[in-house]
Amino acid sequence: MTDPLVRVLPDAGALAEAVALTLADSARQSIAARGTFTIALSGGSTPRPAYELLANAGNVDWARVEVFFGDERCVPPDDPRSNYALARDALLSRVPLASHRVHPMYGGKESPADAAARYEDLLRARFPATGATFDLLFLGVGPDGHTASLFPGDAALAETSRWVLHVRAPSSFDVPDRVTLTLPALNRSRRVLFMVSGAAKRNVVSRVLDTHDTTMPAALVCGLEATEWLLDAATAP
Ligand code: 6PG
Repeated sequence: MTDPLVRVLPDAGALAEAVALTLADSARQSIAARGTFTIALSGGSTPRPAYELLANAGNVDWARVEVFFGDERCVPPDDPRSNYALARDALLSRVPLASHRVHPMYGGKESPADAAARYEDLLRARFPATGATFDLLFLGVGPDGHTASLFPGDAALAETSRWVLHVRAPSSFDVPDRVTLTLPALNRSRRVLFMVSGAAKRNVVSRVLDTHDTTMPAALVCGLEATEWLLDAATAP
């Protein structure tokens, strides 16, 4: 487990700028080192301003970028609740990135279980059976401590071999059917970057970063080489 680096930015705007710069820097470093940059994108609402700033960061060789997702809600790709729709509208449609280098998790017609199986096959064909997968895994955290679509107490947290699962979100969540990377897949990323904003998440961030509360799924994810938490002041413990 790599000890997390924590950076606190004064407000949500500065946080979005710092995340966009970090993503662009990570892309440049990966492309310089390995000729490509593979990233698994986060969903939710927090990343939007960072995606929009990244789209304007002129110094990324997008032809060498390949985009995956950490999780997806099982809704059509044009549904505003779709994580793919968020990334497409805020970033992917604004940069010169070929569609075959973008890998949505859910197409809208397949069953969630079939989507998970397809994505598992995709990842296993793309990445080696051992060692690093994504150059960067970009994640958010819910107020309950979930990350990707791994929710507290869910049986999916005990998965040790599958890389992708169909899970059901708790009833309080808008979209029940989800496809998510599992911990074995999440924890094979070279670098993990968490972006967390807002006072509503201060408690969960403290439980993860201060008390290392492993009942919080976000506390179970770290990068092979680096783990970084970018927070705004409202979120910092
Ligand atoms: C999802 C995300 C999820 C998200 C958190 C935070 O599908 O919802 O992947 O893990 O990062 O729920 O969401 P917000 O950014 O909307 O607070």
